[in-house]
Amino acid sequence: MAERADTVYLNGDYLPAAEARISVLDRGFIFGDGIYEVIPVYGGRLFRLAHHLERLDHSLDGIRLANPLSHQRWQAILEELVRRNGGGDQSLYLQLTRGVADRDHRFPVGTEPTVFAMSTPLEPVDPELLAGVAAMTVEDIRWKWCNIKTIALLPNILMRQQAIDAGATEALMLREGYVTEGTASNIFIVTGATVVTPPKNNLLLPGITRDLVVELCRSNGVSCLEEPVSEEQLRRADEIWLTSSTREILPVTRLDGEVVGDGTPGPLWLKLIGLYQDYKQAFREGRIE
Ligand code: PDD
Repeated sequence: MAERADTVYLNGDYLPAAEARISVLDRGFIFGDGIYEVIPVYGGRLFRLAHHLERLDHSLDGIRLANPLSHQRWQAILEELVRRNGGGDQSLYLQLTRGVADRDHRFPVGTEPTVFAMSTPLEPVDPELLAGVAAMTVEDIRWKWCNIKTIALLPNILMRQQAIDAGATEALMLREGYVTEGTASNIFIVTGATVVTPPKNNLLLPGITRDLVVELCRSNGVSCLEEPVSEEQLRRADEIWLTSSTREILPVTRLDGEVVGDGTPGPLWLKLIGLYQDYKQAFREGRIE
């Protein structure tokens, strides 16, 4: 892969990506022993930062790693990184691992975590995706702590590739007859005039975009339930949406080769994507925090 010319943050330093180095004994590399966040940046401002930092703390608690930085310090570091990369719209990625130690499953003692952050330009969502994407269902092969945003994403990668190989954009995971989420997105269905998304629990990532979509529904008179979604409900849904920080709200118009609704993005998706864009614009202009 070509090395990036942009600036990254690594353990206290800002440096060109091509010069950033970590040890081969880093537990992130050896064990996937770490967690991450992805934060969208609009007009140089970090979107829903407090929510992301709160989720970061939950992930760290989940893997029993103390946060080496206060929220204030995180904010200062991330804002500086965004500034050094030219501001505007970016996708900020940060990762912490349990640090560098001899290879041993037990936690190392007295080891500093590795703290890394990078930021890449965030392009507007591809209009082709907004015209509707294909999804396929797969069995959720992951562990039972999916609420932790772990860097160990091998199951997600395998399931996503399976979907791509089948000509779909995303894999929707089913566990014991219920849909959990996509490999890098949360799921919503629409039945009649009601929007439903699975409740937050240990079987899915508590998406920041998911929470905002629930909020936007409720503050705009759209009925939105947080309830389990069965495979049958999914297959009968009038609309299916996928939410994530980088792809916002995507309409799914084909599921396992079958048409969803009338095969075009539905009216409630159109309403919510409009509300979402308005919210982003207000944030970009500093009208909301
Ligand atoms: N992924 N579920 C999973 C498994 C995810 O990896 C993600 C996000 C989401 C959506 O969460 P949010 O709305 O907070 O982005 C749900 C990021 C974007 C990624 O891995 O790149």
